[in-house]
Formats: sequence, C-alpha cells, structure tokens
Amino acid sequence: MLTIALSKGRILDDTLPLLAAAGIVPTENPDKSRKLIIPTTQADVRLLIVRATDVPTYVEHGAADLGVAGKDVLLEYGGQGLYEPLDLRIALCKLMTAGAVGAPEPKGRLRVATKFVNVAKRYYAEQGRQVDIIKLYGSMELAPLVGLADKIIDVVDTGNTLRANGLEAQELIAHISSRLIVNKASMKMQHARIQELIDTLREAVEARHPS
Ligand code: ATP
Ligand code: PRP
Repeated sequence: MLTIALSKGRILDDTLPLLAAAGIVPTENPDKSRKLIIPTTQADVRLLIVRATDVPTYVEHGAADLGVAGKDVLLEYGGQGLYEPLDLRIALCKLMTAGAVGAPEPKGRLRVATKFVNVAKRYYAEQGRQVDIIKLYGSMELAPLVGLADKIIDVVDTGNTLRANGLEAQELIAHISSRLIVNKASMKMQHARIQELIDTLREAVEARHPS
C-alpha cells in the first residue's frame, strides 16, 4: 500500500491532475467527502486528508509514504527526516515580510507576528537583528493594524490580502512552491514503486508547467 498525505484546498486541487496523469484518481471527491482516508482507482494507493502544516509530520513518521507540502511549511518544519525529490510547481507564492504602508522602522526591538516562527528566527538571526516573535495561527495581517506587531511574515501571492488591510510587502524571504516529499524508509523499502511514481509525476509537471 502507498499512502499519500495531502491537504484540502489549493494543494489538493492542483495535485489531483498530476496524480491522474499517474493513473491515481480518488474514488470519491475529497473536497466533498468527510472521510479522511480516501481510496483511489489504484487499489494499493490511498490518500490521507490532513492539515497543510501536518503533512511533513505524517510523512516523516511513516504514517504516509509520500505527501505534498508547501516549501513554506517545509522550511518551518525543518529537520532532515524527509526526502524532497520533486518541485511540483503548484501553489506558487512568496514568503515575505510586510508592514503598514508608510510606517517608519521601529527604533527598538522589532515585533514580528507570524505562524512561521522558526523561519522568522533564522531570517532575523542571519541579519543580526534582535526581534520579538509573536506566534499566530492565522489572520496575521491584523497584527500590525491593532498594534500587536510592527511586521508580519506570511505568504503573498497577488498581494490583495495585504492591500485590503493597508499593508505592503517588504522583504522577500523565499520563493515558494509545493514539493513532493517522501518518507526515508519508504523510499528504501518501496524504491521501484516510488521512483516510478516520481518519474511519472515529473513528466506530468513538465507537461503542465514547462521549465
Ligand atoms: P493550514 O490549513 O494548516 O493553516 P494553510 O491555510 O496555509 O494551512 P493552504 O491555504 O491550503 O493551507 O495553503 C497550502 C500551501 O499553499 C501553503 O503552504 C503555501 O505554500 C501555498 N499558499 C498559501 N497561500 C497561497 C496563495 N494565496 N497563493 C498561492 N499559494 C498559496
Ligand atoms: C493565504 C495567505 C494570505 C493570502 C495571500 O491565505 O495566508 O493571507 O493567501 O494571498 P494574496 O496575496 O493573493 O492575497 P488563504 O487565501 O489561503 O486563506 P487562509 O488564511 O485560510 O490560508
């Protein structure tokens, strides 16, 4: 059995056509179903529906053999416990700092609100800048508006969410896309099967999003 961990929403929507190219189609619509384990047209392949931030955890611990996760999530998760063999070139966005339009740089310690705490610590440590990191789980854009933080670190695509809240993107931390990740033991134990899937997905990625 091959188990693939995916999150609902854009990752699922953009990954299903790639899996279909490999002949893997869920037997029911994961967006509509309340089921968290979804069989596929290949009897030995199933999908696990998990939170985006939980995908690396399922894969590292071997509860799933493979998964699809945003590079932002992988940067935050860290560790050496996973293989990352393929950039799927989906869910493209940027990890950026942002602040209120026209706000002056604060004189003292910078207060940064984000769900990407580890990324934030590394980013500002590399710059030798003292910061207080404030962990949030969502709606980061609110923090500078109500004085909780000077800046946020979040993913930005169109910039519409920032604009709608009077914020502007500032520094680029990383270009983000979603990656196929593989459990290390699974890669050894089921090497031929997984390598074949990686190769098919690579062709599907190249066909859909040429480099
Ligand atoms: P969780 O549900 O665990 O809070 P999430 O809300 O970030 O996670 P999604 O919104 O489905 O989950 O995002 C999945 C991935 O898609 C992110 O990790 C990121 O790589 C990418 N992403 C997030 N927002 C955008 C966006 N607006 N445009 C393009 N890609 C995005
Ligand atoms: C993501 C992210 C930003 C927004 C950026 O939220 O958290 O708020 O997209 O995209 P934009 O630059 O095109 O506005 P999403 O829409 O996924 O909602 P979420 O907060 O539920 O993840």
